[in-house]
Order: sequence, then C-alpha cells, then structure tokens
Amino acid sequence: MSEPHVSVENATLLFGGSVMSPVPNPYPVYARLRRERPIVALSGWMDTSYLVSRYDDVAAGLKNGELFSPRGNARGIGLVMGRTILEMEGQEHLRHRRIVTPSFSLRALRGEVEREVERTTHHLIDKFERDREADLVGQFTMTFPLRVMAGIMGIPISDFEEFHQWALDLISVADDPGKGFAAAEAIVGYLRPILEERRNAPTTDLLSTLVHAEVEGERLSEEEVLSFLRLLLPAGAETTFRLTGSVLYALLTHREQLEEVLADRSLLDDAIDETLRWESPVQFTSRELTRDFEIDGHVAPKGELAILSVGSANRDERRFEDPDRFDIHRANKSDHVAFGFGEHFCLGSHLARVEARIAVSAMLDRLSALRLDPDVDCRIVGLAFRSPDRLPVRFG
Ligand code: HEM
Repeated sequence: MSEPHVSVENATLLFGGSVMSPVPNPYPVYARLRRERPIVALSGWMDTSYLVSRYDDVAAGLKNGELFSPRGNARGIGLVMGRTILEMEGQEHLRHRRIVTPSFSLRALRGEVEREVERTTHHLIDKFERDREADLVGQFTMTFPLRVMAGIMGIPISDFEEFHQWALDLISVADDPGKGFAAAEAIVGYLRPILEERRNAPTTDLLSTLVHAEVEGERLSEEEVLSFLRLLLPAGAETTFRLTGSVLYALLTHREQLEEVLADRSLLDDAIDETLRWESPVQFTSRELTRDFEIDGHVAPKGELAILSVGSANRDERRFEDPDRFDIHRANKSDHVAFGFGEHFCLGSHLARVEARIAVSAMLDRLSALRLDPDVDCRIVGLAFRSPDRLPVRFG
C-alpha cells in the first residue's frame, strides 16, 4: 500500500477519523509517524490526544506510571465501565489486582477451565465439521471466548447472546456513546440479582469470589464488583476472539509455516506469540501525562492524553527486523507489548493463550486440509482492535 499524501499535522485524517474504523492497514501510517513524528496530536479522537508510536517510548510509557498515569484510561473506556483497575494506581491498584489474580493464574486455569475451553471448542466444531466449509469468525471465534468467560464468571450460558451484544456495545462507546452507556446499564441490571444470590449462597465461580473477597479486612463495594465485571466481560471476550482469528489467518496465509505447525504442534505457541506481535488484537492504551513529554523536539503537554500505540511499537523496525513479515521463528517475537507491560500487564494473558492454543489445535486436528476459500475475500481490519472480518474456509 502506498503512503497517504496527508500531512502529519492532520494525523487523524491519516486513519480515516474514527477509532472503530475498519482500517485495513494502518501500518504504513505508523511507519511514517515513527519516522517523522514519534509523538503526534490527534484531534477529535477521545478529546485531543497524542499518539506515541515507537517501541522504546511506548514501553517506557507503560513502565513509567508516574509520568504516564493510568488514570488516562478513565477518559476512554472507563466512562462506561466505571472505575476499574485499568485506571488505578499504587496501593489501590495492587489491592484490587490481588483479588482476581488467583482466578486467572496458570494454576487456576489448569483442570476445569481448560476442560471448559475444550468442551466449548469441540461443541462449536461439531456444528459445522460435516459441511466442508465454514466462516470460522461467525461460526467459531466470535462466540467461543465469551462462552468460556461466562462459564468462569458463573453466568448461565442461556443468556449469553445478550451478553455478547452488550460486550460489543460496551467497547464501541467512542463511536456510539448512547449504545455504550445503555449496555453498561443493562449489564448492571442483569448482574445485581445474581450477585445477591451469591452473597446469600456462595459458590466457586468468579462472581462469588468477587462478592466475598476480603482485602485487608474490607469487602469490595457493590459498585467495585460491578465495574470489575464490566471490565472482565469485554476484556475476556473481545480480545481473545480476535487473537484466535488472527492466528488462523496468519497460518492459513503462510502455508509453509502452517505445514511446520502441523508437523510439530509445539510451534503453535510460537505462532501465537508472533501473531500477538504482528497483529496485536488491542492496538493501544491510554495514559494521562503528569508532566510535559517530549520526543525529538515534539511536545505533548501535561494533562493531555497519551495514546500508547502497542500496534505500532510491535512493528517498530528499530526493535524487530523486517517487522511486517510474519515469522514464527523470529528470535525476539516475545518482546512484543501486546499484553501491555509492568504493573497493568494483562491479567488474562494466560487465559488468552490457553484459549487460542486449544481452539487452533482442535481445528487443525479435526478439519483436514484446512484452507482459505479462494472465492471469498477476507483480511485483518480495525484500528483500536484488529482481527479478520471473516474467515471463509474449506476443509475435508
Ligand atoms: C489476546 C487477548 C488479550 C489482549 C491482547 C489483551 C491486552 C491487554 C492490554 C494491552 C492490557 C494493558 C492495558 C493498559 O496497560 O492500560 C490489558 C490489561 C488487562 N487485561 Fe487483557 N488482553 C487480552 C485478554 C484478556 C483476557 C482473556 C482477560 C480476562 C480476564 C483480560 C483482562 C485484563 C485485565 C483485567 C486487565 C487490567 C490489568 C490491570 O490494570 O492491572 N485480558 N490487556
């Protein structure tokens, strides 16, 4: 794709103007920004904000919570999620993080959660295995992580269609605030009576853990529990489905690497890591600047919002050689910052990897001669979040 002829002064236009745009390929724009304007003002995108595009600056921003305050997250997604750990700092953040960390540790995922992922995966594949063709986004990746998340939380699976819609509406708040706020309210209305039930009769699910959790002798307030759940729902559902779709897309469009993975399944973990770098599902996160921040003479003022572009950082030629190439043998692929870095490092990274590994492996086992349908176009799209818009495949 040739580079757009828009001035970097109008950087917002380079992306087509909306954070939820189905941008097919933002990477030439990022390459240009890294070269010409490593910090650039974007107007009309969640107030005025400053996009940071180079790996070292993004990593420094994620590490330095004192200059890049996570309360920046409150000005975006926090508006509908309420106050969540994403925007918390210091002791308050630690206290909240400690409550849920055990539920998402590798140890906790072994056993019942892994079995739940296996069950959901095979249940969905059963439905189309005999058809010799499918859209793996519509018929598989879109629904499977939400089902798993609903299982971990303890939400009845029969309600999950509604949940999926709320999760989608919640993350599109920047584009359609009305829908985002309505979804946030709907979730609260739905969850309140279930939380009340768990309060009176504890179980082993996450809802019960949150309601009864005590840190330093204090219980979480109902508002805190609800905000946690409003965060976990899209965090768990909207990200992993994208990762799983992109891993499949990457392998199906790089047949020689797919053959290697088919011959040696341990390479699937490398493919997952390289996909996280090559097509990061979450493309940026926000921070508030507590002081002026300068790179190469370009300044973002104190108090403004910095958009740390994880997607651009993971394609930075200063860090990754030939960064646009998908290569499961790349030595430093796990240096990516797709799950963030430092204190706010993604709590669900183990779950995301487990889900992607089990799902892709099952498809490679059960759908023989899996290939993209040559008659239907598909591609990876998106700006704030990226994944294939559909995955039309044939097999058998
Ligand atoms: C491929 C899948 C995923 C990606 C790419 C991803 C990405 C991220 C990123 C970039 C952050 C850091 C945000 C920041 O620093 O402001 C983050 C934080 C977080 N993620 Fe994920 N995530 C994924 C899956 C999940 C899952 C499955 C869960 C469900 C439990 C989850 C829960 C969280 C939570 C709770 C935080 C906040 C942690 C904190 O503030 O201390 N994520 N995630």
